[in-house]
Amino acid sequence: MSADRKLYEGKAKILYSTEDSEILLTYFKDDATAFNAQKRGSIIGKGEINNAISAHLFRMLEAKGIPTHFIDTPAPNQMRVCRVQILPLEVVVRNIAAGSLCKQTGLAIGTIVNPPLVEFYYKNDDLGDPLLTRDRLLLMQLASPEQVDQLDRAAREINEILKEFFSQCGITLVDFKLEFGIDQHQNLILADEISPDTCRLWDNAETDPDARVMDKDRFRRDLGSVESAYQQVLQRVLAQKV
Ligand code: C5P
Repeated sequence: MSADRKLYEGKAKILYSTEDSEILLTYFKDDATAFNAQKRGSIIGKGEINNAISAHLFRMLEAKGIPTHFIDTPAPNQMRVCRVQILPLEVVVRNIAAGSLCKQTGLAIGTIVNPPLVEFYYKNDDLGDPLLTRDRLLLMQLASPEQVDQLDRAAREINEILKEFFSQCGITLVDFKLEFGIDQHQNLILADEISPDTCRLWDNAETDPDARVMDKDRFRRDLGSVESAYQQVLQRVLAQKV
């Protein structure tokens, strides 16, 4: 299957149509951005690593009954996915306080968040992806009330599965972002990617707050060794059979 027409180029991926109107081809790029693209760079090998990690996690989630857009990986930096209508929402799940949660609430980094927090952000670069309340989300008609409940339930279920999976890798799943789409049968489908770009992952073997970071925070905070951290996540993820 060959790439046809470029449909969309994002910060980390390019989406192409294919000869099958229900199938799209995603190219994972090495480009990295942070802070709404104010910081730009490149993480060598990131495209292939994130594609491989996402593919493994999507297969694992599918095996546990979570519908995803994943089909297969025709090349190391390419993923074939089912066409879905992406909801303009970022669904963030938090098990431990970090990042914007600490910044906005004053909670100390590392505070256990129990039960996990599920948050919705409006995917809009011009507005800086603002945090939404449920009422705002409904006001803006970004999803129906039933879809909001469904998204909340799906995000929590996916969190339980991913938390357990990463724990077997010796990694703590601090928080992560999901995106969902609606397929032609109106089913809610997990889409986008799940990778060190979209998750905070802490190495259980390290106690030092900087040394334990295995995700994009190494790039955001200039901690160095970004490539080797991503590589380490890949190795541990692939070592777990689906
Ligand atoms: O920045 P914040 O703390 O809100 O991020 C929460 C989680 O969502 C982090 O794992 C981060 O990598 C992810 N995220 C993302 N894409 C965004 C915003 C956050 O993958 N645009």
